[in-house]
Amino acid sequence: MSDKKLTAVDFVEMKRCGQMIAMLTAYDYSTASLLDSAGIDGILVGDSLGMVVLGYKDTLKVTMEDMISHGAAVMRGVKRALVVVDMPFMSYQVSIEQSVTNAGRLIQHTGADAVKLEGGKCYADRVAAITEAGIPVMGHLGLTPQSIRKLGGYKVQGKADDARHIVEDASALEQAGAFAVVLECVPAALAGEITSNLSIPVIGIGAGPLCDGQILVSNDILGMFPDFTPRFVKRYADIGDEIKRAAAAYADEVKANTFPNHKYSY
Ligand code: KIV
Repeated sequence: MSDKKLTAVDFVEMKRCGQMIAMLTAYDYSTASLLDSAGIDGILVGDSLGMVVLGYKDTLKVTMEDMISHGAAVMRGVKRALVVVDMPFMSYQVSIEQSVTNAGRLIQHTGADAVKLEGGKCYADRVAAITEAGIPVMGHLGLTPQSIRKLGGYKVQGKADDARHIVEDASALEQAGAFAVVLECVPAALAGEITSNLSIPVIGIGAGPLCDGQILVSNDILGMFPDFTPRFVKRYADIGDEIKRAAAAYADEVKANTFPNHKYSY
């Protein structure tokens, strides 16, 4: 694995060469630095931070300031991975002009490599304008959490007629200049069809094995978000249990006045 900083162009090249892309989310310096040194290709500063870091019940309350603060922290920890920052709810929906201004603010204040926004054809004009301004854009289709009220819940998308719309949306994003598309919570066969239609990488989350890469929320795979675990999440570690064990051991020692002992004192 080379140490060279990855770019959006490298992601497209990885697809061309048939190299799978591994992405995870991160929201802070320490986690980003660990994921980067583990060889993760892409780090998304997702607006999922609203739920897993800030404790909101959905992603809609996340602000530009939240994304800037967490995006800048992640960037300070990363040497190699491509870093993508989510455009939060209402930062691109209102107008093309606002979408370019806000994408520009995210890049200027975080130093990230790209932005991500949710939606297909209806926001293709934003994707084109942001790309035109020199900022690589990742699309996001299928289950788009910022539209959770419209979708009626966190459930599989792309069944029946809906599948055609997602196929068309994916092509519209590619034509508008997106360098990659996240496909969330759709049937594996549909994801496979979209992956073979597009020349830009399709990054799946709950979209089966036929995509060009995968992304998951780090807190989910590490067992650090106990509120809710989607079916598509594989748990790779139980850090939450470890944190509870360590905190309880520390509390016991403080109460028994066995910490700090001589070794930890001046
Ligand atoms: O916000 C996020 O973490 C995301 C991923 C689930 C793709 O958009």
